[in-house]
Amino acid sequence: MLDRLLTVLKARFGSAPALTEAHLKDMKGGVDVLADMANRRVMRRYLDKPVDPVLLDTLCAVALSAPSKSDLQQADIVVVTDKAQRAVLDELAPGNPWMKAAPAILVFCGNNRRQRLAFDWRSRPYVNDHLDPFFNASVDAAIVLATFVAAADRVGLGTCPISTLRNNAGKVSDLLGLPNPSALIPSIPVPHIPLPSIPNPFGR
Ligand SMILES: Cc1cc2nc3c(=O)[nH]c(=O)nc-3n(C[C@H](O)[C@H](O)[C@H](O)COP(=O)(O)O)c2cc1C
Repeated sequence: MLDRLLTVLKARFGSAPALTEAHLKDMKGGVDVLADMANRRVMRRYLDKPVDPVLLDTLCAVALSAPSKSDLQQADIVVVTDKAQRAVLDELAPGNPWMKAAPAILVFCGNNRRQRLAFDWRSRPYVNDHLDPFFNASVDAAIVLATFVAAADRVGLGTCPISTLRNNAGKVSDLLGLPNPSALIPSIPVPHIPLPSIPNPFGR
């Protein structure tokens, strides 16, 4: 148990924390889960076997249970099942032929619209039009992706994030019927960070 975790961490980092049997009593039996988590890898070869849609829904629900900035839930998961859509996605991610063979494709989206809608619904001017909402939605989506990967690992399903799709964000949005990103992020002005005035060390 403990040995496995330490071996896995040493294999990855060349050394491992000074964890001993004495620590296990405070770890609620989680040491095996930690070893599994540390021993994960992306998977680029897949069985020719569909994933039960109910299992996919369950994994999505678990992933969307991740922490969310201000509980704004600024992330969505699109499960792409349409064969024609998948074919276009394959074309938009050249250099990732394993995508074609994957039994399931999910697109993880930062939702930059939800917060704007909340202002709209209350007829309030949107006052957060700076880098932060873009950043927060991206971070929420990344956390949901990471949680999905961890959840899929737990049930024996390998995954591989494909960032190449981002190079064609507009085309992916159109294909999946998502709101146009350019409409969502009309401008990203430089954030207004008040700079402290730094006294001139030379007194000039
Ligand atoms: C945000 C993100 C984007 C990634 N994009 C791709 C990708 O486009 N194609 C790919 O084959 N792997 C992609 N990966 C997988 C990484 O290459 C992989 O996680 C990394 O090489 C470390 O290997 P490991 O996860 O097996 O430890 C991505 C991973 C992350 C987290």
